[in-house]
Amino acid sequence: MSILVVGGTGRTGRRAVELLTADGHDVLVGSRRPRGPRTVTVDLARDLAPDLLRDIDGVIASVEPPTDSAGAVAVMHHGIARLAELAAAQRVPVVLVSQIYITRAAEHPDLADIIEARAAGEQALRDSGTPYAVVRPGWLTDSPGTGARLEQGDRGDGRVSRDTVARASVEALLRPEAHGTTFELYDGPAMPDWAAAFTALKADR
Ligand SMILES: NC(=O)c1ccc[n+]([C@@H]2O[C@H](COP(=O)([O-])OP(=O)(O)OC[C@H]3O[C@@H](n4cnc5c(N)ncnc54)[C@H](OP(=O)(O)O)[C@@H]3O)[C@@H](O)[C@H]2O)c1
Repeated sequence: MSILVVGGTGRTGRRAVELLTADGHDVLVGSRRPRGPRTVTVDLARDLAPDLLRDIDGVIASVEPPTDSAGAVAVMHHGIARLAELAAAQRVPVVLVSQIYITRAAEHPDLADIIEARAAGEQALRDSGTPYAVVRPGWLTDSPGTGARLEQGDRGDGRVSRDTVARASVEALLRPEAHGTTFELYDGPAMPDWAAAFTALKADR
C-alpha cells in the first residue's frame, strides 16, 4: 500500500515510516520542508494540494502543534479538517495521533488551547465520513516499546513509548477493526493481539 505519513520527519512519525517500510509498504513523508525523494510538502497551517492523496491508500498524521492558540487552531483543527476532507473524497483511512486529556482540558490549563484545537480536529475527522482511528497517547518517551495498553473514556494518565505509538498507529491504519474508534494508549506489559484489542473497543458512534 502507499501510505502518507504527515509528520514523518518527527520522532513518532519516523518510527511509523520505518515500520511501514519494513512491512513492504511504499511510504511518502509529508513535511513542511520536504527533502529528498518520497517526501512531499504538507503544511497543515496552509492549503493542501488538491491531489495530495492521489494514489495514497492511507494516512498517518503525527504532528506537533504550535504552542500559540491561533497556531494550534490553524494546524490541529483546520489543518486536520482539510486533510480529513481530502481523505473523505477518496475514502482514504486516516489515523490521527492526538493525546490524552482531550476531554479534560480544565485539568491542564497550560495546554488548554492545544487540547481544544485537537478536540475540534478529532471531531472534524470523525465527521468527515472517511475511515479513521484516533490514537490518544499518554506522555511520550523514547524508551523501547515493549508493550501497549489500550483504554477508552479518557480518564487515565501515564507514559507511552514513541515506538508503541508508531506501532499502534500502523496497526490501527491497516486493521479495519480499529476504524471508527478513539482510544488512549499507554505502556503495557506486552504487545496485544491487535485485532482482538481493536475489536474489543467501543465504536465512537
Ligand atoms: N510530548 C508528549 O508527551 C506528547 C503526549 C501525547 C501526544 N503527543 C503528540 O504526539 C505526536 C508525536 O509527537 P513527537 O514528539 O513524536 O513529534 P515531533 O518529533 O515533535 O514531530 C512533530 C512533527 O510535526 C510536524 N509538523 C509540525 N508542524 C506541522 C505543520 N504545520 N504541518 C505539517 N507537519 C507539521 C514536523 O514535521 P516538519 O518539521 O518536517 O514539517 C514533525 O515531523 C504529536 O502530535 C504530539 O503533540 C505528545
